[in-house]
Amino acid sequence: MPPSSPPNGQDWLAAAGPALADAAAAPALLRLQDFTVSVRGEVPIVRGVGLSVARGEALGIVGESGCGKSITWLAALRLLGQGMTTAGQVLLDGRDVAQLSERELARVRGGRIALIFQDPSSALNPVQRIGTQLAEVLRLHRGLTGDAARREALRLLDRVGIPDGPRRLRQYPHEFSGGMNQRVMIALALAGEPDLLVADEPTTALDATIQAQILDLIRDIRREAGMALVLISHDIGVVGDLCDRVAVMYAGRIVETAPTRDLLTRPRHPYTQGLLAALPTLEGPRRRLQPIAGTVPAPAAIPPGCAFAPRCPVAVARCGGEVPELVFAGQDRRAACLRLGELPSRHADDAAPAAAPSGREQVPA
Ligand SMILES: Nc1ncnc2c1ncn2[C@@H]1O[C@H](COP(=O)(O)OP(=O)(O)OP(=O)(O)O)[C@@H](O)[C@H]1O
Ligand code: SF4
Ligand SMILES: [Mg+2]
Repeated sequence: MPPSSPPNGQDWLAAAGPALADAAAAPALLRLQDFTVSVRGEVPIVRGVGLSVARGEALGIVGESGCGKSITWLAALRLLGQGMTTAGQVLLDGRDVAQLSERELARVRGGRIALIFQDPSSALNPVQRIGTQLAEVLRLHRGLTGDAARREALRLLDRVGIPDGPRRLRQYPHEFSGGMNQRVMIALALAGEPDLLVADEPTTALDATIQAQILDLIRDIRREAGMALVLISHDIGVVGDLCDRVAVMYAGRIVETAPTRDLLTRPRHPYTQGLLAALPTLEGPRRRLQPIAGTVPAPAAIPPGCAFAPRCPVAVARCGGEVPELVFAGQDRRAACLRLGELPSRHADDAAPAAAPSGREQVPA
């Protein structure tokens, strides 16, 4: 809508801040509210995540290894083993997933929300033919059997770019390459006609050419099916290519969310700025890549205050004592940084943020 257009009922809410707009918008397809995951009820791994996915939206989740990206979504679908406890809510079309019976949950997994993982061989059944595995999903989620199921299985294999379908249906996962197995996983995910596909590092194990093909496939089928996508990756470049919006995770929390273009060109949070400064660019002048110093803290060793403080080049003393909330940071944007109002929005091509000038308060590393 052009800026001069009169505001409608939702526009003033959006202008007032995403928190308000979120609360009043039509129910999200999936909404995580103050979602927390802990080991044996003690060590929190995911710490109060609030996030929503709209119908048809592609949301990217990025962050370094160990930030809690996978655990968040595995826990949301109740796929974690014993010993992990959750708090808060996971609402699917407004209904709390925690309250679903095992039978209802089985229909949700695959039928409403499908998952694909980095390592398809661990998710596929090694002792079942591909055709049998597809037939099972088609029966469970769409009631298809016999010839109808076979026709649909062949169509799905064709759609994900696996030629020679009749022969392939009779084969086992070990007879497929890594890229082909990932295509099988995508076919299995599509078989249930889900509303949301959660793809956790779907291409990390593949070489660059196959990675690009699989990402193109995910992009195309998402558009065709109008399916929402949650794409989890440590590679902000991959996510930037496919997603409408990005959420950045650090030490079990969301530290920034923004429309993809805004996040990539004007990151607000020092952690996001650090991730982008470490990313090689194909265009523009060559610049020195600057990895973020230090490592993600283990869940049991998360520092008080802002968890990023020991690694943050612009940290000040109060960062070590106060936990930053995720707050309004511009149209459709939120960020969790105590210095949000003081720090300039940075262009992603700028160098990584400089350390606070000497004489300013510094947090001990
Ligand atoms: N079963 C478990 N028990 C205890 N801690 C765990 C368990 N599983 C994961 N963790 C810890 O939880 C944190 C988050 O793990 P998670 O797998 O979600 O990270 P991630 O962001 O997906 O990382 P990656 O990019 O490597 O996949 C890590 O510190 C990890 O060591
Ligand atoms: S709150 Fe402080 S330590 Fe955390 S990101 Fe902001 S400036 Fe850095
Ligand atoms: Mg992971």
